[in-house]
This record gives sequence, C-alpha cells and structure tokens, in this order.
Amino acid sequence: MIGFLQFTHLLNRYKQKLPQQQPREDLAQIIATHFASKWQRPIAAHSLAAFESIRGRIESSSQSLVIDSCCGTGDSTRNLAAALPDSLVLGIDKSSHRLARHRDIVEQNYLMLRADVNDFWRLALEARWQPTQHYLFYPNPYPKASQIRKRWYGSPAFPTLLGLGGQLTVRSNWSIYIQEFVLALNAVGFDSHSRQVTGEKPVSAFEAKYQERGDTLFELVCDFDQTKPC
Ligand SMILES: C[S@@+](CC[C@H](N)C(=O)[O-])C[C@H]1O[C@@H](n2cnc3c(N)ncnc32)[C@H](O)[C@@H]1O
Repeated sequence: MIGFLQFTHLLNRYKQKLPQQQPREDLAQIIATHFASKWQRPIAAHSLAAFESIRGRIESSSQSLVIDSCCGTGDSTRNLAAALPDSLVLGIDKSSHRLARHRDIVEQNYLMLRADVNDFWRLALEARWQPTQHYLFYPNPYPKASQIRKRWYGSPAFPTLLGLGGQLTVRSNWSIYIQEFVLALNAVGFDSHSRQVTGEKPVSAFEAKYQERGDTLFELVCDFDQTKPC
C-alpha cells in the first residue's frame, strides 16, 4: 500500500509527463522574470561568424527585411520570397540536415543561413536590424508543462524577439502554444489576433504534413509597430 503523500507525488510526476492541458497560471510571472534581467548567455563564435557572413548582404539591401526563423527545409522561406518580391527574406535554422533538404531555388530574393536564433536575434537587435515581418512556422512545441521555458514565449529569448519588432506571425498545430503566446504578448502590453488556418496552400513542410493528417492549425499575428506596450 502506498501512502497519500507518495500517491500525490506519483500523480504529479505522471502529470508532468503528459502534454499540458491549459495555459499555465504562472506564465506572466515567467515572462516578467525574463524582462527583469539581462540574458547573460554568451554568443557562440559560430553564431557571430554566421551573422557576419550575411551582414553585408542584408545591410546593403534596399529591400525590406523579412525573417523566417526556424525555417527548417526553407519551403516557407521560398514561398515568402515569391509572395513578397520586393522584400529580402532570410530563412534561419540551426539544423544543417534540414537546410540541406532545401530544393527548387527559383526566387533570387532570399537566403538561408544555419544559425541558432537564440544568438542570431540578439546580434540582429544589436545591429539595429528592423525586419518588417517575422515568421515562426511550427516552432517545436515542447508540450510538457515542465518544458515551458523552452517555448519561445517562455524563454529568455522572448524580450529579444519582441525587440526586433515588425509584424510577427506564428503558426502551430497545438492550440495551447498559440493561446499562451497570445497571453504572453498580452502580459507585456501587446494585442494580437489569432485564427484557425483553413483551406490554404501549405506554406511550409510541417504545415503540409499537419494538413495531410488533418490537424487543426492555428495562427497568431502581432504587429509590434502598431500596438505599444502599456
Ligand atoms: C518543427 S520544425 C518546423 C520547421 C519549419 N518552420 C516548418 O514549418 O516546416 C522546427 C524547426 O526549428 C528549428 N529550431 C529549433 N530551435 C532552433 C534554434 N534555437 N535556432 C534555429 N532553429 C531552431 C529546428 O531545427 C527545426 O527545423
């Protein structure tokens, strides 16, 4: 026979392994912590080298900058470049394996880079880059409650992501991710709009996969240049 305390402990451990069922109540607190302190993690030398390798191309361009963060195979980067011919689209992903699967390069107005956005965003902010649009298609959800600090809105990178400005679009097949992202933005004074994505041509490889298996897809859009923090 196990005692009550042991049972509660086992139940809590079991719950931690399940996907989170609703937004966490301490979300605003987690975000406040990240905004209250400067992120100390050093920038890796390879991130700086990656940043410097494209800096000239970006900074000498007269086209508006669009960032496709965590672009995976870069299908979305190519699709954005086709849809936004007057912009320069930068796809970034840390996985060389995914980037190597990029295909059908037709558009001239995009480039893809291997880099960790945790570093890249800080370097771009420091260099005062001002993307007009920033996309995050299907970021890794990290669905266990204990993984909240790995999700972009719960991570120390969140203030930098916001600092880059522009219009942020996030898509996910996990409704809690979008709900919490909306709440996270709200906690620092930004309004956003969310909707279900239906009947659209898939923009990215993961979107194609999720559409094929019939997942419900969600999007949020937040314009940092129009709504101001309170
Ligand atoms: C679920 S996939 C989505 C890929 C793509 N956006 C799509 O919709 O097909 C998530 C991607 O995020 C990338 N990623 C995760 N953490 C990253 C980081 N810190 N910096 C850059 N890329 C990252 C992974 O390598 C992976 O390609």
